[in-house]
Amino acid sequence: MLNNNKIALALILGSGIELYSDMISDKRIISREYKGVHLKSIFLCRIAGKEVLVFKGRKHFYEGYNEKEITANIVLAGEMGAENILLTNAAGGLNENFSEGDLMMITSHINFIGKLNFKPVNKLYDKVLQDRFRNSCIEAGVKLQEGTYGCYSGPTYETKAEVRFQKKFKLDAAGMSTVPEVLSGAALNFNLIAVSVITNILKENISVPANHESVINTAAKASESLNKILPLFISQLN
Ligand code: HPA
Repeated sequence: MLNNNKIALALILGSGIELYSDMISDKRIISREYKGVHLKSIFLCRIAGKEVLVFKGRKHFYEGYNEKEITANIVLAGEMGAENILLTNAAGGLNENFSEGDLMMITSHINFIGKLNFKPVNKLYDKVLQDRFRNSCIEAGVKLQEGTYGCYSGPTYETKAEVRFQKKFKLDAAGMSTVPEVLSGAALNFNLIAVSVITNILKENISVPANHESVINTAAKASESLNKILPLFISQLN
């Protein structure tokens, strides 16, 4: 018999990314913390009839947290019985085919943070979950980009030279999170995938650099696509 209370997915919401209230039911708050730059709340809810553990507002290096604190959500998800994780984040787009508001599934990454200390593993991003996410996007009529994510500790945005460097080395998006959780989650044998919401386009000669407020605002608008996909994706999980 299927256990209806088993957590089908641990969902980590990146900066500004929102879950629409009409999509979730039976919300049960586990914790709320007003510290650092982002409100951090953890709750259980039901989406598409499945139990989902949601982490809204993760911890970042730039808020002063360390590796153990940043990956505590992953450890908690494991303790609560989750086996699948979807990490989301807000990211700057480097690929010239990307537009603001696009979703990009991360297929590989470059860790520019360095010194992350997790057990090396063979598998990071799960191919079965990736296929399910792709299919959910097709079903929802949402365009999905795919690519390589460069991870920095932040909170400063890229300089012109950093943008040039990343474009030269064919990175597709840049952000300040996710890779520590991917490495930690993979070491703990989770099936995981990660998706970036492209909140701004990084160009070498752009006059106004990205800023926190506009990133949050665009992520909130781009949440619509994610909200279309999530029930379709989650309904395929056990
Ligand atoms: N750079 C790094 N992190 C980000 C960006 C960016 O342009 N946009 C959202 N997060």
